Amino acid sequence: MIRSTVKELFAGGKLNEAVLLKGWVRTRRGNKKVAFIAINDGTTIHNMQVVADAEKFPEALLKQVTTGCSLSVKGRLVESLGKGQQVEIHAESIELLGACDPEVYPLQKKGHSFEFLREIAHLRFRTNTFGAVFRIRHALSFAIHKYFNDKGFYYLHTPIITASDAEGAGAMFRVTTLDLVDPPRDDQGKIDFGQDFFGRSTNLTVSGQLEGELGALALSSIYTFGPTFRAENSNTPRHVAEFWMIEPEMAFYDIDDNMDLAEDFLKYLVRYALDHCKDDLDFLNNMIDKELLERLQFILENDFVRISYTEAIELLEKSGKQFEFPVGWGADLQAEHERYLVEQEFKKPVILTGYPSEIKSFYMKQNEDGKTVRAMDVLFPKIGEIIGGSQREENHEKLLKRMREMEIPEEELWWYLDTRKFGTVEHSGFGLGFERLLMFVTGMSNIRDVIPFPRTPKSAEF
Ligand code: 4AD
Ligand code: MG
Repeated sequence: MIRSTVKELFAGGKLNEAVLLKGWVRTRRGNKKVAFIAINDGTTIHNMQVVADAEKFPEALLKQVTTGCSLSVKGRLVESLGKGQQVEIHAESIELLGACDPEVYPLQKKGHSFEFLREIAHLRFRTNTFGAVFRIRHALSFAIHKYFNDKGFYYLHTPIITASDAEGAGAMFRVTTLDLVDPPRDDQGKIDFGQDFFGRSTNLTVSGQLEGELGALALSSIYTFGPTFRAENSNTPRHVAEFWMIEPEMAFYDIDDNMDLAEDFLKYLVRYALDHCKDDLDFLNNMIDKELLERLQFILENDFVRISYTEAIELLEKSGKQFEFPVGWGADLQAEHERYLVEQEFKKPVILTGYPSEIKSFYMKQNEDGKTVRAMDVLFPKIGEIIGGSQREENHEKLLKRMREMEIPEEELWWYLDTRKFGTVEHSGFGLGFERLLMFVTGMSNIRDVIPFPRTPKSAEF
């Protein structure tokens, strides 16, 4: 007999047919005569109710049917008289696949805090909330590939180990096979990375952008979707040290084309979730965040506001608000400023452009004013920055000058500079933080709860 999933049975199970179901017990209730066993197999948020007549099964078996155990059930699919479900299974045979001792199983019926569940991240998939979150994570990964494939973008795999620091931020994890106790040293006593595995010093990538640009400057439009790593010591609900980033890069796109794409892409993903993850979103809306669905709908219905950094600073100064971090032209915006603009000033997503060159990366296209660059950050309610991107400086001389000013080692990026020498063209791109997107779509307020195994300062369990 072929196993059916809970999802299949709810979607198209035929009444009175014999079925085989396997899964984990969520709850068991009942009386001396009959047991009601709720089984979940992760294919949907819904449980299948299995009804077992006590007289048909050995008492010893039913005793072992406790929360968390795994069962294989054969029975008949029948219309349910109980509230909340259309069908249920009347059990004819029950096999205990794996017992689960209720004395030690940490996931009991009562609700657990997300902090506690993070400590048992190996088991939290079995809760309704994390089942929903990780099904949505899957659906949106798929939607991202679909969106770009349908638009003619090519998926480019950029390296995970790299010798360059794309953002010039200096917060990187080193990759080495050198003996850390007694590393080889050069004449000056410095560690000799010439003897390291790659014959040079290497790190985990902070962004695939620079290599992505190389691809776009031949294939027209590419995107990356892979893990990125940042060794910043930021213990916030919006930062992890290992996160997944989607980075499209497009030749012949200016900053306006780039903003149009970012807005269309985000709306597509929100719509995709609403269309394909309804049960999970309904659950999260009921249990986690009562305004979730409203907020998602709101993204679809509104044009994003597009203003310059300079205008944003003026608005923040005029707001009369006491911010923790001072506001002033030239200072980077903090989450509190971003959220003020989105949640209070405009009540819409905001795209900020024209940031001071001093607070942005070397590769951004310089504006004529000599002070600002064609950067763009997309700011979302509850999240703040969800996307960071820019038009890229395609002029070789200007780029080289800026790299020298910012002490970016040009000899290491000779290949990047080459593209500006050989048939350079206008181009743009951006990076969407996948976990930030998931926070927005699921309503989860801590980034650690939208990635299966979060990596944060002092924490790399599992
Ligand atoms: O703004 P960022 O640093 O931009 C780049 O890396 C560019 N190279 C992207 C590009 O133009 N191709 O990062 C992009 C996005 C942020 O807007 C944020 O959503 C996310 O990546 N992000 C993080 N997400 C989780 N944890 C962190 N530590 C993050 N740092 C950035
Ligand atoms: Mg950024």
